[in-house]
Amino acid sequence: MFKADLVNSTPLSTKMKSRKQGLVVCGTGTDIGKTIISALLVQGLKAIYWKPIQSGLIEGSDRRRICKMLNLKEDRWIKEAYNFKAPVSPHWAAEKENKLIDPSQLKLPTVEQPLIIETAGGLMVPLTREWLQIDQIKCWDLPVLLVTRTELGTLNHTLLSIEALRARSISMLGLFLNGPEHPDNPKTLEKFGEIPILGHLPPLQELTSQALNEQWQNQQLDITFKRLLFEQN
Ligand SMILES: Nc1ncnc2c1ncn2[C@@H]1O[C@H](COP(=O)(O)OP(=O)(O)O)[C@@H](O)[C@H]1O
Ligand SMILES: [Mg+2]
Repeated sequence: MFKADLVNSTPLSTKMKSRKQGLVVCGTGTDIGKTIISALLVQGLKAIYWKPIQSGLIEGSDRRRICKMLNLKEDRWIKEAYNFKAPVSPHWAAEKENKLIDPSQLKLPTVEQPLIIETAGGLMVPLTREWLQIDQIKCWDLPVLLVTRTELGTLNHTLLSIEALRARSISMLGLFLNGPEHPDNPKTLEKFGEIPILGHLPPLQELTSQALNEQWQNQQLDITFKRLLFEQN
């Protein structure tokens, strides 16, 4: 990990000190751990959670899961701009309900605390027939935290995602690994991706706010993220 230079910095207040008002939690695919890592960050940074587009409402919403897990009050989340029932790509989920996602409805909300945005799926997921998730991320102009699995398949997915972000000059904070320890993938990702791994969430037996807080403390993620978000701009 490239954390050595971060470890000695003084913890800062979560009050924003720069125009960068938060970060976008994106993943290398669906079911990768975006919601869990978002919960970790929302709790640790006392941030505000926003999932602008939720599809698959039939299976429940990520915002509700996070609120339940962290016991979040109403001032710590922002309502989705779009909610769709079908558990399919947003562009199609919208069409199934005779709707169309309008990117002008996805403007960043103004908030005092840091904003953690969870995307719907990965970078190349269409939001409309003309507009990809990555186009929207470019518009938001917030740095991306890429959530990635540790196991077989992650090298290809992660390196392709990094390349797509770089091709559009979208800034990245780093990678956040999710899954069991792997003897080689982390260092291979850092080497070819030329990107730091900021944290690693192991498989947790119980997904609770306490378990997430333990990880936050043990990995000194407070220092890592506050430094990246509030100091280096
Ligand atoms: N580190 C972990 N330990 C235990 N369960 C996890 C972990 N990461 C993800 N999960 C479980 O895997 C599923 C997918 O995770 P989720 O955060 O919802 O992914 P995404 O938001 O990318 O679709 C969920 O059921 C979640 O509870
Ligand atoms: Mg999710």
